[in-house]
Amino acid sequence: MRPAVLATRATFPEVTARLRQHFELEDNPTDEIWSRDELIRRLQGKIGVMSTGTERIDANLLDACPGLKAVCNVGVGYNNIDVAACTRRGVVVTNTPDVLTETTADFGFALMMATARRIGESERFVRRGEWRKTGIHDHFVGSDICGATLGILGMGRIGRAIARRGALGFGMRVIYHNRSRLPANLEAEVGASYVDKSTLLRESDHLILVLPYSSDSHHAIGAAELAQMQPHATLTNIARGGIVDDAALADALRKHTIAAAGLDVFEGEPDVRSELLSLPNVVLTPHIGSASTKTRLAMAALAADNLIAALGAGELAGKPPTPVNPEVLRGSNP
Ligand code: DGY
Repeated sequence: MRPAVLATRATFPEVTARLRQHFELEDNPTDEIWSRDELIRRLQGKIGVMSTGTERIDANLLDACPGLKAVCNVGVGYNNIDVAACTRRGVVVTNTPDVLTETTADFGFALMMATARRIGESERFVRRGEWRKTGIHDHFVGSDICGATLGILGMGRIGRAIARRGALGFGMRVIYHNRSRLPANLEAEVGASYVDKSTLLRESDHLILVLPYSSDSHHAIGAAELAQMQPHATLTNIARGGIVDDAALADALRKHTIAAAGLDVFEGEPDVRSELLSLPNVVLTPHIGSASTKTRLAMAALAADNLIAALGAGELAGKPPTPVNPEVLRGSNP
């Protein structure tokens, strides 16, 4: 009998068809959200899973599913997975970097621009039928993107793609802060200068967050950080909920400590704090940073390639393209 795998969420038919060439696939075409118990039940007898950020893959789950050999996430972020626990058990973890970089950078820029130029707020105004007078000199005035200072917190692939857009496309001064500084040639290529976090907060006209979530980045932007930002500044979060303290942000937006925020990710999503829902100066989107058809297909296809290869099948057998814990593949896990 062929090995059995699980795809936890609905995906593209061409991707399920490819998985079915190699495995007995249990999929989820109606895209139900399974409870944890249901997920564990469905994982029994499976050796691999194509997962998403919705499922928490931790030590308890791994203990309950001892047959699991590969966890292949659809997404570049993998904070839903306890990688150390997987590595200890010899479970390969993969993610989907690169294929989503430019699409996510486009979206980050779009959300930042919508936030700075008050597009959500003014669109709602028109839809409500409240636009009765043209030419009002200060009607929905926002702040400029071109020529402004763009601050980037986190400087991985997506951060660098955003920096390039800002520096080359919009003539922005680009500053960034990251755990490690980029080599000088890469800084020059993307047109960004390294600053400490406090300078980033104080000098950014538009601050965008693109760092991975971990216990170290939990509430990297809270009340103290928001207090350092300029009153005309905007904050855009396309990284992960939990990096921003949403309660502190709602407070800052209400008090106009900063001008506006654009949020694609939230603490406890899909629930969004009621304060954020009722504030006019925040643009809210439902975690769609990588959501172009081409990119979502590329992500799912890469996750499937990873699963096939991690489980020893296909042309890349034993060599999944984008492993998170390659030490497991080398057999050198502790
Ligand atoms: C990612 O790729 O990490 C996106 O946030 C989708 O979860």
